[in-house]
Amino acid sequence: MYVEELELINFRNYEHQKINFNNKLNVIVGKNAQGKTNLIEAIFLLAIGRSPRTTKDKEMINWDKDRAIVKMKLVKNSGSKTLEIRLNKTGTKTILINGLPIRRISELISVLNVIYFFPEDLKLIKEAPQDRRRFMDVDISQASRNYFFLLQTYEKVLMQRNKLLKNSSTMEVLKQTVGIWNEQLADVASKIIISRIKFLNKLAPIVQKCHAYLSDDNEKLDISYQGVVGKNTEEIKNILIEKLQQNLQKDFELGYTSVGPHRDDIKITLNGVDIRSFGSQGQQRTASLSLKLAEIQIFEEETKEKPILLLDDVLSELDPDRQRKLINIATKQQSFLTCTDYPFDTVGDIYNIKDGNCIKS
Ligand SMILES: Nc1ncnc2c1ncn2[C@@H]1O[C@H](COP(=O)(O)OP(=O)(O)O)[C@@H](O)[C@H]1O
Ligand SMILES: [Mg+2]
Repeated sequence: MYVEELELINFRNYEHQKINFNNKLNVIVGKNAQGKTNLIEAIFLLAIGRSPRTTKDKEMINWDKDRAIVKMKLVKNSGSKTLEIRLNKTGTKTILINGLPIRRISELISVLNVIYFFPEDLKLIKEAPQDRRRFMDVDISQASRNYFFLLQTYEKVLMQRNKLLKNSSTMEVLKQTVGIWNEQLADVASKIIISRIKFLNKLAPIVQKCHAYLSDDNEKLDISYQGVVGKNTEEIKNILIEKLQQNLQKDFELGYTSVGPHRDDIKITLNGVDIRSFGSQGQQRTASLSLKLAEIQIFEEETKEKPILLLDDVLSELDPDRQRKLINIATKQQSFLTCTDYPFDTVGDIYNIKDGNCIKS
């Protein structure tokens, strides 16, 4: 799929712009604070119905105006579509597909698929486990609504169990009532864990290929699930129930549940060694990049269509060799790449952005 035309009206620092893009690499060049990320944000907004950087829709409307419109012509295998979002200072938001307002935001899901990549993502491997859990959960949820509901159910059951841990006066009291919550928690947890294991198994060879490409084949990257694992939900559930019982005294003292998918992680090794403890910053960045880029293929397999790659300001964080390789990957589907300096001016169409004006060079 690709964005053929994008129209911005009173969106952030854009007054009125209509821009055509090619279906491969589009390079957005400009100094700081000119509107590069704003443009990427507009595309992301039409994919998800939300901004990637604010929960307040109003912030996206130009300060001097009352409403903003973002509109695009999208070309897919199945034909063309127009997507439009109207934001109002009063707080209302209308989304239209082919000119018709949609009733629920979920109707927008999967119309436009984007993979959004910004500098913080290069820390995916280095950062806290919750970032990697979010990485798995966001990806699996996009493909499975059922998984999304499982996560919500798990949150609720976990909260109930934690409440019980905090409110029980003694271990004896706790023991009498916790059984039912252990059972429920382990039941939902086992379904979440098996989905994550399957997802990582699918992702692993693709990530490995990406990493080999980015690192000139010298390094072997392996990913696997870190937590309670097993062959099927039944097995995982039984192990979890056992662990919950074993940890009960500890959980009682802590006042929260110390085992389960909310504590799990992705184990990542490079040539057999834990990358978080022993990898260099360069290796960790390359591995983070590989994890994100592997999403392209996962999306493509699931939707039978290439997603659009949004690369916001990541170039400057990479060495010239990795830059060249990333650009090469970016030319394989429609990509939007923003930067302050573009060293490969023979590859891609260049757009210069200055003060909310976008001009193709
Ligand atoms: N709602 C808004 N109305 C007008 N200008 C805005 C709004 N929100 C942000 N801006 C302006 O947009 C610019 C930042 O754009 P951004 O796309 O983040 O820059 P960069 O080119 O560095 O990625 C700043 O000059 C900021 O003042
Ligand atoms: Mg920016």
